[in-house]
Formats: sequence, C-alpha cells, structure tokens
Amino acid sequence: MSRSNRSLTICIRLLSLWRKALLLLLLLPNFCSTQTIVKNLPGFPGDLPFKLETGYVGVGNKDELQLFYYFTESERSPENDPLLLWITGGPRCSAFSGLVYEIGPISFSFTSITKDPVELVLNPYSWTKLANIIFLDAPAGTGFSYSTTTDGYNTSDTIHAKRASEFLQKWLSTHRKFLANPLYISGDSYSGKIVPIIVQEIINGNLHMRCW
Ligand SMILES: *[C@@H]1O[C@H](CO)[C@@H](O)[C@H](O)[C@H]1NC(C)=O
Repeated sequence: MSRSNRSLTICIRLLSLWRKALLLLLLLPNFCSTQTIVKNLPGFPGDLPFKLETGYVGVGNKDELQLFYYFTESERSPENDPLLLWITGGPRCSAFSGLVYEIGPISFSFTSITKDPVELVLNPYSWTKLANIIFLDAPAGTGFSYSTTTDGYNTSDTIHAKRASEFLQKWLSTHRKFLANPLYISGDSYSGKIVPIIVQEIINGNLHMRCW
C-alpha cells in the first residue's frame, strides 16, 4: 500500500449530485442499512475526540452486497465542509488502512508496537480536520464487506464502480444533512481506475435515470 502523500489522488467535485440525490430519496425502495456510533477504541484513552460512525449499506439487486464503511465527520464545520468518498487501492485493501495509515484521524503509536493493545494516537495531518470522509470497504470481500451470494464476489472495475455509486446514493439518503455539501470522489493507488468510473456513473445518473 503506497502512502497517501505519494499516491495518486483523484478528486472531482460534483456540483449537481445533490439535486439527483434529492430526487433519489423519493424513488428509492426500502433497503437495509445499519449505523453505529463508535465512542471508544481499544488503545485510545477516553472518548474519541471526533465523531466516528460505522455501518453497512446493502447494494445490488437484492442487497446481496453488504458494504461496510467508517465515517468521520469533519472536525471543523461538518455542515459546510466537503464530503469525500475514499476508496483504498488493491483492489481489496481495507478502508481501515485509509483510516489508520493514510488520511484518517488516528494512527498507531509505533513506539508502543509491542503493547497489547497497541496504542492509538491522533493524526495531526488528518484530512478529517476539514472534510467529512466515508472510508468504504469495497468491493465485497474487502475489509468487513461481504456478499450473501457467491456471485457477489465476482466483480470487475465497472461493477465495483456501479456498486460504490449505489452505496453513495443510499448512504446519502440516510445522511441527508450532507446532501448539499460539495462532494469529492477520491482514493489512492488502484482506485485511480475506479474513481473516474464512479464519477461517470453519478453524472450519468444510471441507477435512477430510468425512473425520471
Ligand atoms: C463472472 O462474471 C463474468 C461476467 O458476467 C462471467 O463471464 C464469469 O463466468 C463469472 N465467473 C464466475 C466464476 O462466476
């Protein structure tokens, strides 16, 4: 895994997404999603000084792909700061690596590496100082994301991107307060191939265009 300061990052602002997403709210059938607020982590003393949420969003024809995410609100102004979708490379590197080794708010204390649990420290260079970031485990089989069918693991760059954009639209429908924020699709390493396809998917409005 390359470090974020060396790796390719593609960020594309999508001005019109919020309007499409608003429409989507009216069109989406019921789907499964879960959310948990994580207040503490092993190795970190006391409460986390930032808001961390984790959860699953079901995507695919029958929600057979259960995609896991970590979400950290901006430590500055969550209402106004950009929303980033971050996908690590591989493909199939866990988003956890983005969270603790790359651009996330916490990091391992490498001087305490023999302790159990290993100590966590705050990352003063975290991008979450000025952005709301969704770290997504995708495609299925990455990190905690899984599929309830064998077929769900048979993926490709285009399927991966389609499912990631479906994830984003569903995630936004349960996090409506971020609908109007500037949106960036981002990632590193292999995601340099996936990110532009996701953006194209969103611009095309493929998932719900047929409903308009
Ligand atoms: C995976 O999907 C492709 C394209 O749909 C198909 O050609 C291939 O047979 C599938 N592979 C498996 C192992 O199911």
